[in-house]
Amino acid sequence: MLIKSSRDGLNPPLSSEITPREVYEERRKFIARMAAGAVAGSALWEMANREAFAQGAPAQKLAARANPALSTTEPRTAFKDATGYNNFYEFGLDKGDPAENAHTLQTRPWTVSIEGEVKKPMRLDIDSLTKLAPLEERVYRLRCVEGWSMVIPWVGYSLSNLIKHVEPTGNARYVEFTTLADRKQMPGLRSGVLDWPYVEGLRLDEAMHPLALLTVGMYGQVLPNQNGAPVRVVVPWKYGFKSAKSIVRIRFTRDQPKTAWNDSAPSEYGFYSNVNPKVDHPRWSQASERRIGEDGFFKKKRETLMFNGYPEVALLYAGMDLKKFF
Ligand code: MTE
Repeated sequence: MLIKSSRDGLNPPLSSEITPREVYEERRKFIARMAAGAVAGSALWEMANREAFAQGAPAQKLAARANPALSTTEPRTAFKDATGYNNFYEFGLDKGDPAENAHTLQTRPWTVSIEGEVKKPMRLDIDSLTKLAPLEERVYRLRCVEGWSMVIPWVGYSLSNLIKHVEPTGNARYVEFTTLADRKQMPGLRSGVLDWPYVEGLRLDEAMHPLALLTVGMYGQVLPNQNGAPVRVVVPWKYGFKSAKSIVRIRFTRDQPKTAWNDSAPSEYGFYSNVNPKVDHPRWSQASERRIGEDGFFKKKRETLMFNGYPEVALLYAGMDLKKFF
């Protein structure tokens, strides 16, 4: 399926999409006022509360040791922007939809099944998974294929810890991440924008790179639902869509897995999807980006850096034609 409409796929945001925060903040205030005034205890009141919760009201704190060696010192994106401007199509196509709708996601109990080419296949509940290795805070740039970026203090540990724990067999060459697809919890599944579930994948050596983060939190707390609770990956040198949210299965494979965006539009979203200013998306340039919350529309955009400014991953692609394997 080739996605052409800006509302239906990974497309550069329109200027009218950029300031929805004020709009939905006003709407939330309106709902809260209505609810408080006349109908406390009613469905409307509940709706206002749920929205407040989805927007990042008190959440479980997560202790993590800072890892400055693997963190950028660039200014962090405001929590409000990082949790209010999201892509999580299972909860809708607009940037404000995940914050508004993801309160329906049930993040406990949650189990991740680890399968395929491993000596120790297992099912891990979210607490065991979180405790598998010491949690670190890593401040990473995340650059969306649409041309915007954020700087987020993620909490997690290198995915390599989990990979070593399950002992891949000699046949394992790729890792596939399958995310939750439950129509009862995810209103966006009604849209045919992707062939659900959302699936992403990495080559095993990419997944083993220390920067690839198994992520359970951000800004010192558990992941808000709209950011992929309770567990996602963050692969900072690749376009954001490689960083699959709300993972339920990790499978080790011999062959390159089919991935949702690549399946949907192979000429637009390659399997590798390394951030690369020299390889344009067929419908727009990838040479620059807008940092959410910092850059106004009339300000000059930032130059996009090769591998999103993580040159240490270049070795993974030595000898590869990155225009062909985009
Ligand atoms: N994971 C799932 N399951 N569903 C999605 O729609 N969107 C991807 C990625 N992971 C997506 C997903 C895209 S396009 C981006 S840019 C990042 O999540 C955004 O992550 P953030 O909202 O935490 O910034």
